[in-house]
Amino acid sequence: MGKHVVGRVSAIPPGDRRIFEAEGRSIGIFNVGGEFFAIRNSCPHQAAPLCLGSIKGMTMPSKPGEYIWAREGEILRCPWHGWEFDIKTGRSIFNPHRTRVKAYDVTVEDHVDGIEDDESVETYDVSVEDGWIVLHV
Ligand code: FES
Repeated sequence: MGKHVVGRVSAIPPGDRRIFEAEGRSIGIFNVGGEFFAIRNSCPHQAAPLCLGSIKGMTMPSKPGEYIWAREGEILRCPWHGWEFDIKTGRSIFNPHRTRVKAYDVTVEDHVDGIEDDESVETYDVSVEDGWIVLHV
């Protein structure tokens, strides 16, 4: 498993995403309410750039006549045909046990050895509370 430092926490504000290349794969990293999640940027339907889709919520099971909207900011809608996925797990909304997109671990680390020597990583002016986002592929 490769470890890739992709930037500072402040580079991806809550509700936003960034797309990175790691080990030959395009992967989207999402900030959902201050937590980071990563999924492959390829829809399992017809390989659309899934991570460019809209971020939204979803309707929840409810009684007839009720309308419950929840999980705002946790659902990703494919830009081509509208399949929806849980950003936190990569599982589809319509068939979570059979249709999903690959999800990757993301950690936030205060210190990364050798990061000062790596010229391939963008740097930002940050406070000391702003850790590094690390993608594990
Ligand atoms: S390519 Fe994503 S829903 Fe069709």
